[in-house]
Amino acid sequence: MRIITSPAEMTAWAREQQSDGHSLALVPTMGYFHKGHLALMLMAADKVDKVVVSLFVNPIQFGPGEDLDQYPVDPARDEELARSQGVSVLFMPTREDMYPPGFQTVVSVPELSRHLCGADRPGHFNGVTTVVCKLLHIVRPDCAVFGEKDFQQLAVIRRMVADLNMDVEILAHPIVREPDGLAMSSRNSYLGSEERQQALCLSRSIAHARSLYATGVRDTTRLAEEVRDIIKKVTGAHIQYISFFNRTTLESVNQTDENTQMALAVTIGGRVRLIDNGRLVEAG
Ligand code: PAJ
Repeated sequence: MRIITSPAEMTAWAREQQSDGHSLALVPTMGYFHKGHLALMLMAADKVDKVVVSLFVNPIQFGPGEDLDQYPVDPARDEELARSQGVSVLFMPTREDMYPPGFQTVVSVPELSRHLCGADRPGHFNGVTTVVCKLLHIVRPDCAVFGEKDFQQLAVIRRMVADLNMDVEILAHPIVREPDGLAMSSRNSYLGSEERQQALCLSRSIAHARSLYATGVRDTTRLAEEVRDIIKKVTGAHIQYISFFNRTTLESVNQTDENTQMALAVTIGGRVRLIDNGRLVEAG
């Protein structure tokens, strides 16, 4: 596995591979790998000849007062884990290389970015789309893999790729969870042992809404109230949003159907912001 830090070298390597007839996949990440990240790498490896994983804690997607400075890092461990998944290149650019003096272009998908996490984190998705657009241009992969854990991010990226005629296939991987249901996240490392238990209220809420849906409850005000009741009982858990929305448009709905997705953001212990989502009807 090669470690590349320079964007120009990354582009040169990718062009060389493609001229040798190899297909490429990109898996964008911010590192501190867990099994969710590794599953994305495996999915990519199944699809193409060579997998490039980018590891870049993207400063422009963090707002003031967010956790940019505390974001967990462990490049040596990440390197080992990426190697174990058969990754060809770990691309770790510096902030200066990605955002040199004079950098000013912003890629924005305003409508889809305004809902859900976009409402709590203004500017966040502009940071995501800008960096993902740059990474896709640097590598120009045949496909790129994203996780459904960040459901809105996936929708925003798909929109950007369609709107800008980017010649890349976007693949989605289902959420990878801990055995007790907690969605894997690099931010789970911020949780103390009691908070780790409290964090289960997110996946439990989704399971509860799903069971209510199965018994015929369709009204989202009622579903949201039931979920609020579960989370309110958990000490230290504070709801940022609970939303029931159409999977494609992300517009909220009053009555649920088979295309309804539920998503929620909850802070645990006043500091750790966690997100989770799920479909009310299990696919398939
Ligand atoms: P990061 O949080 O490191 O996530 C990298 C990728 O892993 C994203 O596509 C995310 O959806 C996916 N992922 C994270 N946890 C997952 C889980 N439990 N199951 C399945 N997939 C999971 O998302 C980002 O980084 C950044 O916003 C990025 C796209 C790299 C742009 O900076």
